[in-house]
Amino acid sequence: RKMAFSSRRRNYMLVRHRKDGLIEFFRKMLNHSFVLNLVEETAPQTWKHFEELVEEHIKDPVNSRLKHLVSTVGTFFTPLPLCEAYLEYDAHYHISRRKYVSISFDDVRHILNLAQVKASCKQIGLLSFDGDQTLYSDGKNFNDEDLAMYIIAFLQNGTYITLTTAAGYGLDAAKYEVRVQYLLDAFKKASLPEDVVSKFYVLGGECNYLLQCNKNYKLSPVTDWSPKETGTIDQTIVKRLIDTAEKSLRTTINELCLNARILRKERAVGLIHGGILENSESGMQGSLSLRREVLDESCLRVMEDLRKQNFKIPYCAFNGGSDVWVDVGNKRVGVSTLQDLLNVPPEACIHVGDQMYETGNDIAARSCCPTIWISNPTETKYILKAMLSYIGLRESPIPKTTKGFNNE
Ligand code: IMP
Ligand code: MG
Repeated sequence: RKMAFSSRRRNYMLVRHRKDGLIEFFRKMLNHSFVLNLVEETAPQTWKHFEELVEEHIKDPVNSRLKHLVSTVGTFFTPLPLCEAYLEYDAHYHISRRKYVSISFDDVRHILNLAQVKASCKQIGLLSFDGDQTLYSDGKNFNDEDLAMYIIAFLQNGTYITLTTAAGYGLDAAKYEVRVQYLLDAFKKASLPEDVVSKFYVLGGECNYLLQCNKNYKLSPVTDWSPKETGTIDQTIVKRLIDTAEKSLRTTINELCLNARILRKERAVGLIHGGILENSESGMQGSLSLRREVLDESCLRVMEDLRKQNFKIPYCAFNGGSDVWVDVGNKRVGVSTLQDLLNVPPEACIHVGDQMYETGNDIAARSCCPTIWISNPTETKYILKAMLSYIGLRESPIPKTTKGFNNE
């Protein structure tokens, strides 16, 4: 290749796809207390101060101090009792007694989650869950008894539940049922009546397909579902978007010699692992699985290629953990249309997901409701357990024998 030291040719070492501005800001502010060994004395006041910054930002999102300090800060739909959440978290995990390890990214994330749950629990009307890595491990099916019990408790409490997943199988109910059969069986075992199970939805392909649980504990397609913004878009634009994404992903496969292939659907295109190679000398990357760096690179490339084309329709390009996908529509479109359909205001809704970085697909939901950022299904269970206990439902509809519920 020709050498060209031109200012036009630069690589951008992006880190924003592995950073969260608000969490980093909170963490750095708290570091001073740690260095001075004054965490116990000063951290609660710092969290109180964060509460004030959030309140100020709610009142004036354009000119708030928080907006100036953290340019990527999003919308807060409720005030956050951050100090109370911190004290509760510290009473349990004693982070203020640590001498060598200061408050971590995950500590801050958990405290934000707790504060959001505290703020939302009394008014929760719609709980939206991501699928892979939130309700079940990546690519696996639902299989957790406690999680099923917690979801049932919310349904019996009158809360709508939706599984909001990128996995798109059109309106083929059987394919979605495979993923959540365990949960549907739990509904059946608990003999939940129709008015309760009909509060359970599956939103597939980010926002494109809606299915609802029926009295026979099966999923029925909701045929008149038409999400705002993507329900009636021109097929030629859809095709142009998916074509552009496919071309970009193919170029990446070739340039980085990836052991990967393309999977194309009606409203999505994915870069997935190419299968185990017979010949390990092939020089291809990703013989067992595709590496995180490669997935991020492919994702950032396709984002840039799509951005340049200035598409006017909502879409979502993301690193799914073991693959990269571009879907028409996103979780914001899905969850906000469901809010309208079910008459639930944004502040009475929560989306729980694991993909909250810029290259994730849950981050889109941040602009239509409060979100909880978990990193695996065990954390989802923890947060639901906390929420049920704040509502005061921790004992009642759950059988006493359910393990992990009554013991901390
Ligand atoms: P989620 O975490 O539940 O949103 O699911 C994301 C995962 O679903 C991706 O990482 C893919 O492995 C899988 N998937 C299956 N079909 C699709 C699709 O059509 N678009 C995007 N992801 C899909
Ligand atoms: Mg996920």
